[in-house]
Amino acid sequence: MIVFDSENKIFYLSTNNTTYAMAVFGEKLLLHAYWGKRLSHPLSPDWLDTLEFRPLAPLDFGRFSTDMLPQEYSTFGSADLRIAALGAEYGDGSYYTRLEYVGFEIVEGKPALEGLPATYCEEGDKVETLVIHLADSLHGLHVYLSYSVFEELDAIARSAKIVNLGERAEINRAFSATVDFIGCEDRELVHLDGAWVRERSITRRAVVPGIQSIESRNGCSGAVHNPFIALCDKNATENSGNVYGFSLVYSGNFSAGIDLGPFNSARAYIGINPQNFNFVLENGESFQTPEAVLVYSAEGFGGMSRAYHKLYRTRLCRGKFRDIPRYVVLNSWETTYFTFDENTIVDLARDAAKIGVDTMVLDDGWFSTRTTDRAGLGDWWENPDRLPSGLGWLADEVNKLGLRFGLWFEPEMVNPDSELYRKHPEWALRTPGRETTPTRSQVTLDFSRQDVCEYIIDSLSSILDRANIEYVKWDMNRYMSEVGSAALPAERQGEVYHRYILGLYYVLETLTQKYPDVLFESCSSGGGRFDPGMLYYMPQVWTSDNSDAVDRLRIQYGTSMVYPYSSMSAHVSVCPNHTQGRITPFEMRCNVAMPGQLGFELNIGKCSEEELELSKKTIAKYRELEDVFHKGDLYRLVSPFEKDYCALEFVSEDKKRVILCIDSQRGLFNGPDQYIKMEALDPDAQYRCGDKTYFGEYLMNFGVHFCNKREHISEMLIFDKI
Ligand code: GLA
Repeated sequence: MIVFDSENKIFYLSTNNTTYAMAVFGEKLLLHAYWGKRLSHPLSPDWLDTLEFRPLAPLDFGRFSTDMLPQEYSTFGSADLRIAALGAEYGDGSYYTRLEYVGFEIVEGKPALEGLPATYCEEGDKVETLVIHLADSLHGLHVYLSYSVFEELDAIARSAKIVNLGERAEINRAFSATVDFIGCEDRELVHLDGAWVRERSITRRAVVPGIQSIESRNGCSGAVHNPFIALCDKNATENSGNVYGFSLVYSGNFSAGIDLGPFNSARAYIGINPQNFNFVLENGESFQTPEAVLVYSAEGFGGMSRAYHKLYRTRLCRGKFRDIPRYVVLNSWETTYFTFDENTIVDLARDAAKIGVDTMVLDDGWFSTRTTDRAGLGDWWENPDRLPSGLGWLADEVNKLGLRFGLWFEPEMVNPDSELYRKHPEWALRTPGRETTPTRSQVTLDFSRQDVCEYIIDSLSSILDRANIEYVKWDMNRYMSEVGSAALPAERQGEVYHRYILGLYYVLETLTQKYPDVLFESCSSGGGRFDPGMLYYMPQVWTSDNSDAVDRLRIQYGTSMVYPYSSMSAHVSVCPNHTQGRITPFEMRCNVAMPGQLGFELNIGKCSEEELELSKKTIAKYRELEDVFHKGDLYRLVSPFEKDYCALEFVSEDKKRVILCIDSQRGLFNGPDQYIKMEALDPDAQYRCGDKTYFGEYLMNFGVHFCNKREHISEMLIFDKI
């Protein structure tokens, strides 16, 4: 619900449980007024008078300075000396942008963002969008701030559109959202960090004076930081305390952080990384920032995550696979790596059929001269030695066994040892006069170019049209460097990183619309590009190349801060684990993979009878429980970052079924008794688990007993409300 109090010039944006307010100050300046628990009454008219006078600050608003006022979308060059949301340089060499309030419009629903992924609404959703118009009249630069209020989902999606009606200007920073907090005391900052095979660990640190930021500068969102931060009370827990989440629907370079000043006021920000970003706007041109999704929870991190999960699962992911059960795949990679031929794949599929896998995925190594990772990327046609009968034949053979057929691509890359590169070296990202550093013997195709995008669309289409391919794994295995485009003039080289992402989104939009029956999964050396932007096109992501059950507990737990388990592809793999050599029980591997999108990545032909039996049971159980894992609410009860075990609770949408997953990372022989307190149950109802029944009250207050007395204990308890 959006309400404008015209007397006091205050906008109130309310969801079921939250309110976000902005005020027009002195007829000119748009201020941030409030974000927190839902308000039922207006702010006190003197809310701003509470700010003390501060010497030194430039006083451009009577006794006030823009440097101390909580601003909604601040600008560089003005009297606001904090980190700015927007910066531009003009033809006269000046860089002072001064935005003043012009007006507003409220529209039903939510307009799409041109060329960019974004949350959306459907018929019947309670969603309204407020667009506030600001302008710099000297330079003719107009800014439209957009706020879509998802009333029932407790989220606000923000973005800014910059329209230049003046002389040529260069935009050098344009965040998607900033929020100024006053009285920002004893707060902490939370973000998700890591690297290849240890993605999205939770980092929590005190907010101290100055700027604390996380960034990506590698051309994609990356494994090092995820485009998400949360600001929280010092004592916020999983189920209590104020938490403010900022998540960016974008897959390129980003920056997010907090700038704490000397008077307990802090500015949180998220958006495109200003480093290496410079966008030229000629008269009449515009720039649309990506969308930032803001979630406030008074119920700690659990409340925040559940809001993100529901929004991203139902109003960011799209297409036919959004709501239906997906595929249980066998992926060939860890079984064959680069050594196979068409018969190997048919044999793998035959074995897979025995345990109930429904999709055979052929990973890397099937095309052109790709027999190692040193050649072939860019040349998307079958390797005649390996697949002499062609992909059409192979897909048919797999189909005859009752399985779907899926295929791996890495469309954004090219090996210098490829026909494509030999023909079009200018199609790779490069800086004139410099060598391009390869990684994994590959360089990045310049997706900022239309001709490159069309080539990739055509190449993939010709493969997808040629064979019955029902699943695509879209990989991306290097960070970008020496970025430049041969197709853009010198003054527009600062646009390449962003234009690359726009090109990628164009290709993904075209292909996913053209092939609506293909399930697309994204991957970037595992979870190196696990972000909301990619989820808009592909509803699931290969969470990590690390499929070890113990490590996956932490990776999946950290990922769940923002992303639902329905988006996490998780495979049962062989032991010792190929990434780090750990041996875990087969049952634990199955149990840890099950809440995600279950799959397998091992040689089923080499499994023992017992493992085959367990695999069959796991798939059957998964099919029975997947709705609870994927559509239910998640309660994180025990963190694997804090204890030697992990406990997760999934509550079905109708609240009748509850699954408790307990997994031990490391046991302590003769260790202590633990009582895991469940949540969100009906205290007066009884729940059956096996042949026992318990009151909800008992499970929530007394708790479920667990003794972490052995390595890798894995329990999955199913409670049904009677
Ligand atoms: C990446 C992926 C793996 C596999 C290989 C193939 O590392 O994350 O799953 O597809 O590429 O080269």
